[in-house]
Amino acid sequence: MPTLIVTTREGEERELNGEAGLSVMEVIRDGGIDELLALCGGCCSCATCHVHVDPAFADLLPKMSPDEDDLLESTADRDATSRLSCQLPFTEALDGLRVRIAEED
Ligand code: FES
Repeated sequence: MPTLIVTTREGEERELNGEAGLSVMEVIRDGGIDELLALCGGCCSCATCHVHVDPAFADLLPKMSPDEDDLLESTADRDATSRLSCQLPFTEALDGLRVRIAEED
């Protein structure tokens, strides 16, 4: 199982084993980190699954859709590493992926 390394808002680092085929958001929620609200359940309509992704993995991520881009634009903590974690399928190729949960809006 690929590993996902998550930094919480308090700066705690958690290592999760994620099932490939789930989204990064689902791996984080299944890992018991409930500060990632993911209110819309992965429908790309809430932006409460916002994370910052380690730039080293940027090339391995799917391209951002216009909808994801629009939603991220509405968040205060957006930067060049921002993604919505429900839009990122977790795969073997992403083993060791590091993400940091964005500040709450
Ligand atoms: S869970 Fe709502 S946009 Fe990702």
